[in-house]
Amino acid sequence: MKILAIETSCDETACAIVEDGTKELVSVVASSKDFHEKTGGVVPEVASRKQLEFIFPVLERTIEDYCEKTGISGKDEAIASIDVLAVTVGPGLIGSLVVGVTAAKALSMAWKKPLIPVNHLVGHIYANFLGEPSDIAFPAVCLLVSGGHTDLVLMKGHGDLVYLGGTLDDAAGESFDKVARMLGISRYLGGAVLSQKALDCGNRGPAKLFPRPMLDQDNYDFSFSGLKTAVKRYLDGGERDISCTAREFEEAAVEVLTAKTMKAVNNFGIKSLLVGGGVSANNRLRENLKSETEKAGVKLFIPEPRLCTDNAVYIAAAAYFNNTTKVSEEIRAEPSLNIMGLV
Ligand code: KG4
Ligand code: ZN
Repeated sequence: MKILAIETSCDETACAIVEDGTKELVSVVASSKDFHEKTGGVVPEVASRKQLEFIFPVLERTIEDYCEKTGISGKDEAIASIDVLAVTVGPGLIGSLVVGVTAAKALSMAWKKPLIPVNHLVGHIYANFLGEPSDIAFPAVCLLVSGGHTDLVLMKGHGDLVYLGGTLDDAAGESFDKVARMLGISRYLGGAVLSQKALDCGNRGPAKLFPRPMLDQDNYDFSFSGLKTAVKRYLDGGERDISCTAREFEEAAVEVLTAKTMKAVNNFGIKSLLVGGGVSANNRLRENLKSETEKAGVKLFIPEPRLCTDNAVYIAAAAYFNNTTKVSEEIRAEPSLNIMGLV
């Protein structure tokens, strides 16, 4: 089954075609990131206008690349070979989501193909199902670490997710971004830049300058806002080494993420840990989780960095494994934007 998926939840306009939920045939991602760099944060109105500007070129490029890759000779044949459409319906910026959902609904009607709504966060988890058939065993624990969310979820099977806990304030990615900004190394989406900067601190042992919020609490919740404030106070206190401050912050955030995740893994006695979201591209987090899961005899699944940040490939994968035509029919019959509430 070939699924064409559209993702427009924030500042990326993405489209992909995936076969049987695991084989990526094409993926196109356009981003308005550069425009938000200027304002030091995403301006929803700008993001949605860029979505409007990018959506048709991205769709066209997807079909062109698909024809080129598969040897299909023309657009009509390409469209005929697509079985199902999928689209991110939330969470995200409403103005951005509307662009993708409207395009997907229009294509669904014009091409007469069912449309599957996908939750963006569930999509991040499904980046782990792409590629070679994997031996993911259920129940699994999922750590979702993105710019807007930090959640621990128990996945009992496809479409059977139980929320265990999550951040009470800032998301992990948001705290990386804000600290990167305080350090003056990036104005927007600075997680990867901060991580790179932290490497310059060398091999000095961590001084544990910053708190490990909620580490000792017996729950699966997180808090990153106090950690961010601790970094601010430290920076206000005098001349500081930027790379070592970055490293201390990264150490603290990654330690809490790893410890709470392993708590869930151990308490539920599970054998597979799935990680997703932009922050799962972080090398320190990847290394820490790798060594802790190895010690615990648990199999770790983290997507390749390219698939950690927003794209439409994992949206297609999620749609494949959660294919509910009942919902898709409701969507096609529903002319209003209420479909946002469906997932
Ligand atoms: O999943 P994503 O692309 O978008 C959302 O759904 O939010 O995640 C973006 C977040 C940003 O906060 C970005 O700074 C962070 O992921 N991020 C990283 C790294 N790469 C991306 N954070 C830490 N280390 C990285 N290498
Ligand atoms: Zn995301």
